[in-house]
Amino acid sequence: MSLPKVTILGAGQVGATTAHLLVLKGLADVVLIDVVEGLAAGKALDLLQAAAIEELAVSVTGTTDMGAMAGSRLVVITAGLARKPGMSRDDLLAANANIVGPLADQIARVAPEAVVIVVTNPLDVMTQLVLQRTGFPRQRVMGMAGMLDTGRLRAFISQRLTVSPSEVQAVVLGSHGDLMVCLTDAIRVQGAPLSQRLSSQEIDQLVARARDGGAEIVSLLKTSSAYYAPASGVVHMISAVLGGTRRVLSACVLLEGEYGLRDVCIGVPVEVGTEGIARVVEQPLSPQAREALHRAADQVRAQVKQLLTLKPR
Ligand code: LAC
Repeated sequence: MSLPKVTILGAGQVGATTAHLLVLKGLADVVLIDVVEGLAAGKALDLLQAAAIEELAVSVTGTTDMGAMAGSRLVVITAGLARKPGMSRDDLLAANANIVGPLADQIARVAPEAVVIVVTNPLDVMTQLVLQRTGFPRQRVMGMAGMLDTGRLRAFISQRLTVSPSEVQAVVLGSHGDLMVCLTDAIRVQGAPLSQRLSSQEIDQLVARARDGGAEIVSLLKTSSAYYAPASGVVHMISAVLGGTRRVLSACVLLEGEYGLRDVCIGVPVEVGTEGIARVVEQPLSPQAREALHRAADQVRAQVKQLLTLKPR
């Protein structure tokens, strides 16, 4: 039985870890593509051998050839530069746009039916760039950040209260970065509001740590940013698409009037199905949360505009 094909563009840490998880879960036949000669091919061979040890009949191939993504059900874009210590996600804007833009053109040409998951930073701007350059409907382009940000928050809350992460529900909106918006009143632990267990000051500290979670890891690793949790986030989104689970999760998508926003990609809760984004879920927002979401959207708009002034490659 052949599995759905998932192509990962970029065989760096996030790309390769995503491939490893997909293989271990037996979710997909994986194609890994990287411009660096031998990198994707080498990692794919290693993964294929790992699959044999796990006795999993999956196909894993690695190549520099973009044509290999033909027929993909999903394409994940992880290619790009990672953050170095002291570098903000936004410093990456121009450099990564020059990598991601041409990749989006290739996806539109070679895998025109694929659902695309964008991981490259700055996440929200790259998602919008991919949407524009592919010309795909908004259902088929989403950015992975909300899974990561909520994952970080759930990790810190579950660690603090010694409960299973599965007992912690949280929703984040806004952009991946300093303008992440957490609906703190909506956080539930074992079904009850978190405010019954922790002071608002302590909740704010945990939210801040989640928001700055990427930078905390960069400052420790020094030469790399996070990849285990980002890869887990991607794989859960892939699984929701392939399984058509209609799971509600946070993702970066183009808004078309929801939350009073239009023509901007930003993180919101969405229902994910076989088509990609089945529906944007509108949560009731406090005036403060709404303002924060709009501020995040303004920043994404400004950066998208900034991109237009850069010379396209
Ligand atoms: C992070 C970076 C990679 O949040 O965006 O870990």
